[in-house]
Amino acid sequence: MTLIAPGRSVGVLGNGQLGRMFGLAARTMGYRFVVYGPDAKGPASQIADQTIIGAYEDLDRVREFAGCVDVLSFEFENVPAATAAAAEALTRVRPGPRVLHTCQHRLREKTHLLSASLPVAAFGAVQSAVEAESVAERVGMPGVLKTAASGYDGKGQAKVLQLEDAAPAFESLGGVECIYERFIEFEREVSVVAARGEDGRFAHYGLFENSHQNHILDLTRSPARVSSATARRAEEITRVVLESLEVVGVLCVEMFLTGDGELLVNELAPRPHNSGHLSIEAHETSQFEQQLRAVAGLPLGSTAPRAAAAMANLLGDLWANGSPRFADALREPAVHLHLYGKTGPKPGRKMGHLTALASTPDEAAEKVLKARESLVLPLSEIE
Ligand SMILES: Nc1ncnc2c1ncn2[C@@H]1O[C@H](COP(=O)(O)OP(=O)(O)O)[C@@H](O)[C@H]1O
Ligand SMILES: [Mg+2]
Repeated sequence: MTLIAPGRSVGVLGNGQLGRMFGLAARTMGYRFVVYGPDAKGPASQIADQTIIGAYEDLDRVREFAGCVDVLSFEFENVPAATAAAAEALTRVRPGPRVLHTCQHRLREKTHLLSASLPVAAFGAVQSAVEAESVAERVGMPGVLKTAASGYDGKGQAKVLQLEDAAPAFESLGGVECIYERFIEFEREVSVVAARGEDGRFAHYGLFENSHQNHILDLTRSPARVSSATARRAEEITRVVLESLEVVGVLCVEMFLTGDGELLVNELAPRPHNSGHLSIEAHETSQFEQQLRAVAGLPLGSTAPRAAAAMANLLGDLWANGSPRFADALREPAVHLHLYGKTGPKPGRKMGHLTALASTPDEAAEKVLKARESLVLPLSEIE
């Protein structure tokens, strides 16, 4: 097992907030941090020692980047397979190209989960409008059609309530390869962020409970309000996912919990996840330090919780009437602010998040939501 010791260089493909928080962890531990991405001023490059600007398809630039880092990781999974392969010829790439190849394509991902005997919603592959109908009929309705590649935050998805919706849904997504999934009337959405080291060691952060607004994560509570049997089962599913893919790094498993207590895997993210941001304050080792430890061949850190916690995303909408009232949100001392350094606060754009610690997840959620409201409303109107 090779150790990439502090002082050496770590690189990240992608110049967003996940890369930024990974880089902050890397710099804290004395690593040199290099970012690769198409623009010069992203959240990650603001805190990097060096940024190499290039398209993800520009293999010569990617090779230049790979040549100046001792290990390379990702902040998102949608990089071309050829990019990961070109990098791997020159440096250590973690998680490896095979993990990316599986996780960047919903059909490959679901097929892998099935082959590992893990529970997923019924699904089928759709290549044409005619097939959209036949698959919807066979799998059952309602359902959701998703582009097999490059969807995020609910983009590239269309609901199919009845047979007549299937072909138009396929066309509305651009006529590209899709997966059709049975729509699950879940009771809760949960996720498990976990890490696996080069030595096969496994560590997880327990169950997070997530709620979405317009398909974008809005609020995460830790721990999730589920039975301990459900939590154990979700953790076991996650262990099987990381082991079956031989992940070295951090991976998040998103799951649905149904009314009768069944867990179904929704999707995998082979990197730190928005639901794990609260680990920065709420756990002994954050998901970003853990990613660093895993990919650098260091021992994994403790994932023991320090407190119950809740995280609320800050979308660009909060900037509609000028700069939010950050000082008001921080009046509660157990609330912590993270801003990603993005200019141009567009509606729906993730600008930052707030985390609150408390003795129960409900209390933490109440605190963090109140703090978020106070960003835009005078305190007198909330209290
Ligand atoms: N089969 C499904 N049944 C019910 N809800 C779904 C289903 N698939 C997705 N969703 C909802 O849409 C959200 C986003 O879908 P997801 O597959 O996680 O894609 P992404 O997060 O990449 O946009 C999920 O978190 C969930 O709320
Ligand atoms: Mg998702």
